[in-house]
Formats: sequence, structure tokens, C-alpha cells
Amino acid sequence: MPVYHRLGDIPSKRHKIYRKPSGELYSEELMGNMGFVGPSSLLYHVRRPTAVRALQTIREVKWEAAPLQPLRHRHFRTKQLTEPADAITGRTPLLFNNDVSMEMVRSAGELSPFYRNAQGDEIVYVSEGEGVLESPFGSIDFSAGDYLVIPRGILHRYRFISPQRLLLIIESAGYVRTPKRYRNEFGQLTESSPYSERDIRCPQNLETHDEKGEFKLIVKKANTLTEMVLAYHPFDVIGWDGYYYPWALNIGNFEPRVGRFHLPPPTHQTFEGDGFVVCSFCPRPYDFDPDAVPAPYSHSNVMSDEVLYYANAEFMSRKGIEYGSITLHPDGLAHGPQPGRTEASIGQKQTNELAVMMDTFRGLHVSQEAVHIEDPDYYLSWLDS
Ligand SMILES: [Fe+2]
Repeated sequence: MPVYHRLGDIPSKRHKIYRKPSGELYSEELMGNMGFVGPSSLLYHVRRPTAVRALQTIREVKWEAAPLQPLRHRHFRTKQLTEPADAITGRTPLLFNNDVSMEMVRSAGELSPFYRNAQGDEIVYVSEGEGVLESPFGSIDFSAGDYLVIPRGILHRYRFISPQRLLLIIESAGYVRTPKRYRNEFGQLTESSPYSERDIRCPQNLETHDEKGEFKLIVKKANTLTEMVLAYHPFDVIGWDGYYYPWALNIGNFEPRVGRFHLPPPTHQTFEGDGFVVCSFCPRPYDFDPDAVPAPYSHSNVMSDEVLYYANAEFMSRKGIEYGSITLHPDGLAHGPQPGRTEASIGQKQTNELAVMMDTFRGLHVSQEAVHIEDPDYYLSWLDS
């Protein structure tokens, strides 16, 4: 849960008369999750946010699962996804179920369209690039290693300032939040949380654009993309306050935990969703007992599919992976360090691994696009050579 935040000018009470210098009323908008009882913000627009000039369906978002294949460990080399595309409409689906998906895009342009995802929250991991996430709430500067958390319904766009523009998108049907065990009963992140409110970056630099014209917005709802032409610039907010807004957390601000002996992956949990969790594996010292085995033990992840995105080329228990690799270790068979990796980990003092893990509680479909970049022999990599 982010904290209460406010920017710009707002009236002293909710829902009271609030006028522009011209005497016209500002247009108040509640942007809230779960009807009128969930986290919400109140925004004050110069113009009506409801003014739409035209509508058209762009297309259905139809993700095709690859034909059924024998259950096995999978490895996808996303470095082979080289074709830049639109940051919003050109995303490549890789893995998905009804709760969550993982997509990827290398943005072709510096400026994305205005976009609103009305069916899912997004956690966007910036694998490469720098820029600004713009929204009616203000702007958030981002750089590589940032998680951008964009709750559903929030209009936004990306403005890149770097030639590299690689995004990994985790799209969640449920509300994305900080793990409950990191919060006290008052909602504050506790002393034992691996990150604190100081690490959470809220929108800043609210700029108010009072412009009339034709502003194209892409809305995703019911797996369909609709283009709406707004009559006013959507970033026309003079002020807002509340708990519902986009926010950012850099993976480098996740404080990794280390034990005398190996600690399990939930130690690295970063976000909680419905039907999945996200964990961050960050550079850290290894376990410090002289008899510790730093590499993880083999494990059968019953009722969970494990997905790892390798944000650099190092991972203590894996070989054969590269920067941009994604592995899927599905429920139904054990996985663990590959031959030699456990022995090699003994006596090591630290790891520089950087990886984003998505554990889902229901099985994942592999997309047709992912199969095209698959390393087909990965499942054999546990054999002694
Ligand atoms: Fe695992």
C-alpha cells in the first residue's frame, strides 16, 4: 500500500465548491478501486475528464497458448525478441493464466500513446532505459531496475530519454500491493520490511495542461483495445490527494536478507497479487556459516509455477542462462541447481545475481510467441555430461 500523497492545489473539504480564477468549477473525479471503499484519490481537473469525441475498437487482445507439449522445464531467450514495437500495443505475451501474465516490449518510440489498463494492475520492470512515467498525478522519473506499479484505471504514458527501452510487464487481474506481512495494522511498512516508504517514489512535478483538441487514448478492457479521442488533454489536473496513484520502487532499494544457512525465496518477496507473488533476487553476501551451502536445495514447487527473469547474466544455481533469459519451472517436477553448481557455491562469499521472480499459484500457459524463442534442450540441463 502506498501512503497518503497530495500534489498541487485542492479544496479544504471533499466535494465542496472549488472554482478556477475564471469562476468556472473545477471538475472533481474520484479514482478509486473497489467501488467507493478501496484505495482512492480525488483529482481536480480543469476540464471534464468524461469528454470523449470519438471511439473505435482497435482489436481484440487474443493471446494464443502454444499447443500442448510434454510437461518440462522451459527456458526462453528474450534477447531474441529484437523487433522494437509500440510500448503499449506491441507487447509480446510470454506466459499467462487468468490471474497474471508476463509480457515484454522493446519500445520503438520515445513517447508511448496515452494508455489506461481498465482490466489489470501493472508492475512494469524497467530492464533497460530511462525516462519519465507521466500521468494526471504528475511524473515519476524512472531508470533501469525500477518497478513501476500502475494500478488499473490510471491513464499514463511513457516518455523515454534513452535509446534503450526494454520493459517487462507483469499484468495482474487482482490488486497489486505490498506483502501483508510487511505492514502493521496501520498500513505502515514495519522495521522488518525489506523496503520502506522512503524507497517508494510517488508522482512529483504536477504539470497542468489546459488544452482543447483531439487526444488519443488506448483503453484495455475485456481483452479489447479501444481508441478514444478525448476532447481535452488528460493531464489537466490542478491538484489531487489520496492513496491511489502510480508509484515506483527500484530493485536496488530492496534490502536482501541473508542467513547463517540458506533462506527460502519468500525472503525475497517484493509484491503480492491475487494468485501470484513477485520476488527480487539482488546482489548480496552468501550465507555465512562455514558449512553453509549457498545454492538452494532441489525443490518441488507444489501448486506453484516458478518464473524467473534474469536481469543480468548471473544466477547462482543456474548455468546456460543469459541476460534476458526467462525460465519456467512448473509444478509437477522438481528443480534445483544444475550439476556442479551446488559444489561450486560452497565457500563463495557473495553473489551479484539480479532476477525478478513471479510465482503463480495456478498453472501458466506458454504463448506461441514464447515457443519461438525457446531453448528446447533446457530440460536436459540437469543431466551429468
Ligand atoms: Fe525454485
